[in-house]
Amino acid sequence: MANVYVLDHPLIQHKLTYIRNKDTGTKEFRELVDEVAALMAFEITRDMPLEEIEIETPVTTAKTKILSGKKIGLIPILRAGLGMVDGILRLIPAAKVGHVGLYRDPETLKPVEYYIKLPSDINERELIVIDPMLATGGSANDAIHSLKKRGANNIKLMCLIAAPEGVELVKKEHPDVDIYLAALDEKLNDHGYIVPGLGDAGDRLFGTK
Ligand code: URA
Repeated sequence: MANVYVLDHPLIQHKLTYIRNKDTGTKEFRELVDEVAALMAFEITRDMPLEEIEIETPVTTAKTKILSGKKIGLIPILRAGLGMVDGILRLIPAAKVGHVGLYRDPETLKPVEYYIKLPSDINERELIVIDPMLATGGSANDAIHSLKKRGANNIKLMCLIAAPEGVELVKKEHPDVDIYLAALDEKLNDHGYIVPGLGDAGDRLFGTK
């Protein structure tokens, strides 16, 4: 069964308070989301495998560790996912970045993938799907299905804020996918917004309305 990790480090919670505040403007919002993404990446990569190598320090030879094993792929879901990419890339600069764009057909309610561009070797990478607001979970769920269909077999989901409904859907459909959150909020309102949430993450990141 998937694990759900709420990364409630004091720095993350402090910054999230300013992110949630409706009076925080676009520039500051964007910077804070970027910083929280980097802090979350620090935790998400805690289980990355290491290997021992021998090096020469100026004083002696020493056995020390470097990262080994799977390569990382970041998969932001358009458009709000873009706001967390640079923060993660500062810590994992060698990661490749794929993009997924989805919308739900209002008549059939089926997901329509209007854009997808992925690293060619996603089956060899540990993928971090980035969806800042896990509301109903529909987009993240569909994006993960789409990645698995193309060969992905090692996926984590990273969100800023989730509603219980979204977490339950992803846990049910993807029991192999661990979920990392900065906060698990109370509920969704009638308009599909997370409560208390932060409003529309895409609009707040890009200054649209
Ligand atoms: N998407 C958002 O940007 N905000 C929400 O509250 C829910 C979905």
